[in-house]
Amino acid sequence: MKRVFSGVQPTGNIHLGNYLGALKQFVELQEDHECIYCIVDEHAITVPQDPKELRKHILDVAALYLSIGVDPKKSTVFVQSQVSGHAELGWILCCNSYTGELSRMTQFKAKSGGKESVGTGLMTYPVLMAADILLYDTDVVPVGQDQKQHIELTRDLAIRINNKYGEDTFVVPDGRFMKSGARIMSLDDPTSKMSKSAENIHSRISLLDEDSKIKKSIMRATTDSDGEIRFDIENKPGVSNLLNIYSALSGKTVEEILAAQNWRGYGDLKKELVAVTQEALAPIKANYNEIRESEELIKILNEGAERANVIAEKTMKRVRDKFGLGL
Ligand code: TYM
Repeated sequence: MKRVFSGVQPTGNIHLGNYLGALKQFVELQEDHECIYCIVDEHAITVPQDPKELRKHILDVAALYLSIGVDPKKSTVFVQSQVSGHAELGWILCCNSYTGELSRMTQFKAKSGGKESVGTGLMTYPVLMAADILLYDTDVVPVGQDQKQHIELTRDLAIRINNKYGEDTFVVPDGRFMKSGARIMSLDDPTSKMSKSAENIHSRISLLDEDSKIKKSIMRATTDSDGEIRFDIENKPGVSNLLNIYSALSGKTVEEILAAQNWRGYGDLKKELVAVTQEALAPIKANYNEIRESEELIKILNEGAERANVIAEKTMKRVRDKFGLGL
């Protein structure tokens, strides 16, 4: 059975982009893969975090995993910092990466641009992500489009090290991307991706948003003034984004959606999308509070960490041995 690994940062506001790009895949894959899903808290501290908030967000994301349908009987769910192999392998990979390749990463350039002083963690972050993946001999990594470059780096590092220390050091993983959900754009500015940190709350739909908020955010989404409903990312990014979200939520292709519609304008498209979104998120919200408050949650995470540790330790033994570390 192929092994799957993925993670989400516990930084609040998990949104429709995270869901349609990555989380939805988590649920699909657990039926016929060995899945390991992580809450990557060590990634979150690349920027300053309030410790109390961070701990709360870790449990929030864990509860969301379970609410969307990740089943702890089928998948391993755990918190990154509970498995020390991530940080250890991160260091080993750091010593095999180049500052040039890390400083060329799109996300690093975006986050560091114009700043006088930039935290080292922001630059080495993709190496820690590579360690997360390689630690579990992962075959498949379900993620959104914005992580594609990081997956490429992971592959490069694995191949580089395999060439030097032996082909059986690391499994070289592949990314897995959704057709319509891989890049969900911001509702107020469809030329930038939907993000957790954007100031305008109407730029995103968070998975736990109330129906009234969902309606407000979609109804005020930026479109264009030519009034024609068609899919054209270049010239009509707003309308295309709404159609993409519709497609990813409903499982229908954009062509099918367009062929079946009799909308008189963007208002009708938006109204229908409001209903589709509210319906899709209702079961997640219905499950969430009970799971978040239950004592089971911590137990599931502790058991997940134990299982993850067994796999991680096996990899680390092999890697230490290959590198000549320890005795
Ligand atoms: P993070 O926490 O920013 O996002 C979690 C997942 O959501 C996807 N995503 C999107 N997909 C479509 N449209 C969007 N607008 C959108 N925004 C976010 C991301 O691609 C991601 O799959 N570095 C990762 C976390 C990570 C990881 C890993 C992932 C750390 N280690 C190992 C996979 C394997 C991140 O910051 O994701």
